[in-house]
Amino acid sequence: MTHVFPRHTKALPPRAARGDGAYIIDETGKRYLDGSGGAAVSCLGHSDPEVTQAIKDQADRIAFAHTGFFTSEPAERLADRLIAHAPEGIERVYFVSGGSEAVEAALKLARQYFLEKGEPSRTRFIARRQSYHGNTLGALGTGGNAWRREPFAPLMVETSHIAPCYEYRGREAGETPEAYGLRVADELEAELRRVGPENVIGFVAEPVVGATLGAVPSVPGYFKRIREICDRHGILLILDEVMCGMGRTGTLFACEQDGVRPDIVTIAKGLGAGYQPIGAMLCSGAIYAAIEGGSGFFQHGHTYIGHPVACAAADVVVGKLTAGGMTERAARMGEVLGDALVARFGQHPHVGDIRGRGMFRGLELVADRESKTPFDPARGINKKIKAAAFDAGLICYPMGGTIDGRQGDHVLLAPPFILTEHQVGELVDKLSSALDVALA
Ligand SMILES: Cc1ncc(COP(=O)(O)O)c(C=O)c1O
Repeated sequence: MTHVFPRHTKALPPRAARGDGAYIIDETGKRYLDGSGGAAVSCLGHSDPEVTQAIKDQADRIAFAHTGFFTSEPAERLADRLIAHAPEGIERVYFVSGGSEAVEAALKLARQYFLEKGEPSRTRFIARRQSYHGNTLGALGTGGNAWRREPFAPLMVETSHIAPCYEYRGREAGETPEAYGLRVADELEAELRRVGPENVIGFVAEPVVGATLGAVPSVPGYFKRIREICDRHGILLILDEVMCGMGRTGTLFACEQDGVRPDIVTIAKGLGAGYQPIGAMLCSGAIYAAIEGGSGFFQHGHTYIGHPVACAAADVVVGKLTAGGMTERAARMGEVLGDALVARFGQHPHVGDIRGRGMFRGLELVADRESKTPFDPARGINKKIKAAAFDAGLICYPMGGTIDGRQGDHVLLAPPFILTEHQVGELVDKLSSALDVALA
């Protein structure tokens, strides 16, 4: 008997009792290797003593002071640390409690920016199909996953969705990756012309698409062209790094590898590493200046923004990701993981594509490699893989609807950066037996 409203009423999960490095241990003592960090959250594993100590110390000093009255030492320290490592031009940090809140804050700040500038006609966002930006109504409306949107579509603001940069399925035979990237980036230009650039606030995209595509980075040159188009029409580039940011791809911000500078960037998940619920929306000095020189305040806010205990935990996390060398470790171990996946699944008859960056990897499953034909969604391959892996003591993050929200299956891997080479072997072994069971 439980009074908790679970994620699924027909599948009650076991109770997590303890964390031990890269493992979660349930109440029966069963150990699970956390191959996806939950959903790309637990970048430092589950028992980091420095993060837990910082939480205790801050709770002993002061747990909460409303940001309508106070700032706090941990929030100031964390903001300084993030800005010291942020993309060029990013100067301010707005702390929230998770990824969806970070995206909502980004959307509202972008709209208010244009109001402050006297451009009220700008009301529309352009985003991409097969993206995920969160489950609150603004973020869900921005996301482009048909299945997630469908029931709530009547409640959403109208958003344009252009093609993702999804080389495995989108690049045509004989087309170079660069030419493909420019072709799909130019869909932004076409959509801007269709709806009128004077009506558009910004373009929203994940640098490496996580939950809905399975660790898909863009091709070289794609985001540079996107930036050019944004600049040409005076719209904002909003990058959602909630999943791919904070060292996950081998650099603190994923967009560093695309050589692109956002106007707004959102982070969460790895920022608190699962030790505290925290996210953040970071914006350029120019956007901040428009608010400061205009109405003077961002018309937004939640009770728990800038929570001192959450900021104290995240400050230690980001310290470890930067000065502590954990991001470099993600890059190094990411190569080990990528090589191990290619060695084991490179010739697998039902693994069509292996992709990703750093400790953020995806496998796309197909019924037939040659034609890239997906499995019949009715087979529920992704659900079977998740269940078989969990049975075998591996947490991974499979998802369906990879291609269009309905067809396609992938497995997302996002293990803790502390993973050892031995544990990479364990992950690949367990995933291999889960695929055998699910595909049998
Ligand atoms: C790219 C991206 N944005 C936003 C979110 C929403 O974050 P949260 O679940 O913390 O609200 C997610 C969650 O998976 C995400 O992957």
